[in-house]
Amino acid sequence: MKQTYKAVAVVAPGKMELVERTIPAPAKGQVLIRVEACGICHSDGGTVEVAFAGMELPRVPGHEVVGRVEALGEGVTQWSIGQRVGVGFIGGYDGTCPRCLRGDFVNCENPVISGVTTDGGYAEVMLAEANGIVSVPEDLEAAQASPLLCAGLTTFNALRNSGARAGDLVAILGLGGLGHLGVQFARKMGFETVAVGRGQNKATLAKELGAHHYIDSAEVNPVEALKKLGGASVILATAPNGKSIGSLMAGLVPGGKMLVVSVPSDPIPAQGYDLVFGTRSIEGSLTGKIIDGADTLRFSAMQNVLPMIETFSLEQAPEAYAKMMRGDVRFRAVLVMEQTQ
Ligand SMILES: NC(=O)c1ccc[n+]([C@@H]2O[C@H](COP(=O)([O-])OP(=O)(O)OC[C@H]3O[C@@H](n4cnc5c(N)ncnc54)[C@H](OP(=O)(O)O)[C@@H]3O)[C@@H](O)[C@H]2O)c1
Ligand SMILES: [Zn+2]
Repeated sequence: MKQTYKAVAVVAPGKMELVERTIPAPAKGQVLIRVEACGICHSDGGTVEVAFAGMELPRVPGHEVVGRVEALGEGVTQWSIGQRVGVGFIGGYDGTCPRCLRGDFVNCENPVISGVTTDGGYAEVMLAEANGIVSVPEDLEAAQASPLLCAGLTTFNALRNSGARAGDLVAILGLGGLGHLGVQFARKMGFETVAVGRGQNKATLAKELGAHHYIDSAEVNPVEALKKLGGASVILATAPNGKSIGSLMAGLVPGGKMLVVSVPSDPIPAQGYDLVFGTRSIEGSLTGKIIDGADTLRFSAMQNVLPMIETFSLEQAPEAYAKMMRGDVRFRAVLVMEQTQ
């Protein structure tokens, strides 16, 4: 068997390079995964631009990983070699911090963040923590399943905990990797679903994804359009643009919630009047726990929620990443690794 593997690593801010390395042995509590597919998430920008705190270079991005367990570290008994597994953004927890002890693994003080604190899935193999991976059903194709582990998990979990009830109007702002899954989940959860995007080129696709309504924010005032529909109980903000999120606040019904999953680099402006007189709120939501990942996969299989993907080879990672950053991918770029052995 080949003793080396290929990966695409960030070697300087904004610069990725194909590297060849020796295959590592998994340490205690770890597994080695032979990667089959890895989605490219907008959050990978934090790795590529070396914007996450405490990052070291070189670093391999990628946190939407599906593959097979190839080797087990000491003490790992819950997984077996050959098993199909997935890794998301939060790739494990230390189990000892005060939050972990309360079961709040998402807010662990010392989490393993795939592609940030450890090397991720833009690679033929990766190491993962045994307590941070999820089982992936055999009948889900790797490239189709991988975006469910971050884009899917994040939108599924935010929506199911949003407080919106069946029949409520729920809007999804931004139609990229997260947004196009958010639209499908919202529809399948029984919400009257509105997609808010820029331009007519996504109108038909939004309807195909299940949106009851499409609002082209480049063409009409989206707040007026939402008001015409009765106002949104929840707006799931996936567009990484603070100004466009803030400008939608008045499109919420009184008591409505702006649920922010994107991480814009600009501030999110909110008018005190819209917040106070409408008793509206704005809330952030970070991905989800391992168990939420399993729930996402189960719900997706049950309700036939699948991402629309464009596939690329590992070597094409920089090109695929650039296309995603331009907002040109329909709707998730996924690296599919050649299986040579
Ligand atoms: N909370 C979490 O745990 C979590 C998890 C994963 C990702 N994220 C964050 O979520 C955000 C979205 O990630 P993604 O992977 O879905 O990104 P993406 O695939 O690049 O999609 C973002 C979409 O937002 C829209 N958009 C971009 N700029 C905009 C602007 N100036 N005004 C209005 N809309 C704009 C675009 O769609 P339209 O042209 O259709 O509007 C674009 O396709 C990122 O900030 C990412 O870091 C958070
Ligand atoms: Zn992500």
